[in-house]
Amino acid sequence: MATVIDRYGVMGYPVSHSRSPVIHRLFALQTNQNIQYELLQVAPDKLDSAVAQFQRTGGKGLNITVPHKTEVLRLADQLSERAHVAGAVNTLMFQDGSVFGDNTDGIGLMRDLIGNLGLNLRDSHILILGAGGATRGIVAPLLESKPASLSIANRTLSKARELAEQFSSAGPVTAYRFKEIPSSTRFSLIINATSAGLSGEAPPYPAAAISAGCVCYDLSYGLTPTPFSRWAAQHGAARSVMGWGMLVEQAAESFHLWRGVRPNTTAVLKQISISAS
Ligand code: ATR
Repeated sequence: MATVIDRYGVMGYPVSHSRSPVIHRLFALQTNQNIQYELLQVAPDKLDSAVAQFQRTGGKGLNITVPHKTEVLRLADQLSERAHVAGAVNTLMFQDGSVFGDNTDGIGLMRDLIGNLGLNLRDSHILILGAGGATRGIVAPLLESKPASLSIANRTLSKARELAEQFSSAGPVTAYRFKEIPSSTRFSLIINATSAGLSGEAPPYPAAAISAGCVCYDLSYGLTPTPFSRWAAQHGAARSVMGWGMLVEQAAESFHLWRGVRPNTTAVLKQISISAS
């Protein structure tokens, strides 16, 4: 009898740049899991039918990426608490005819910041730039690390305010316009969660927020330094880090959910960042 190989994949639009297939293949090799992982380019108007078809044909799980993370929420029969709070899903698991939606982005970021980079965020001052979907997914896990303050700065103040209000019961969150970020606060961590760098526009990042010892973390990553990480290095950040580690850690968390085994991320992070440089 032929062996059945469990099928997984990543759905996005566009998706050709995705590193997820490489990462999951390395995880599978390392943990002796017999899986197949596909790149699935799916336009927004085809999302429902593509997910249904993947499930119908025996697919076991999907990663969901831009621009589908919010839309796919309604296709899940059940959501994890963290996906519900984030208002977004990056992982689907198909089991017994039902669809479970999870979000591993937040935990992926925390594992990178704390586990890989060795940051201690307790009593620190954290600044997030941007107030879109990416920010929504990381506020709750960041607040769990008990910072002294979490500031959200955004071009459109109302969106930052909305998020600050939503999460105010979970910790000390304040909203600002970029220009109004208090210069008296010594931020130990600045996270770029805007999509500003993607279009190559002049970044609106607030240089006054960087002080000595500050770590700047870009949720985006690239083969060469992103505009934010270049900007951070130029303005004296102690460290300027791109989101490769978060990418690998969120993938590991999805892999663990699907396969019940936790891969060693250090080895894989080294492998993909070497192949990216
Ligand atoms: P994502 O899911 O990646 O977070 P999004 O929800 O569209 O994407 O949010 C994009 C974020 O980047 C928003 O905070 C947006 O600011 P606005 O809320 O003011 O639109 C921010 N952003 C995008 N381009 C920007 C630019 N050129 N300058 C400043 N902020 C920008």
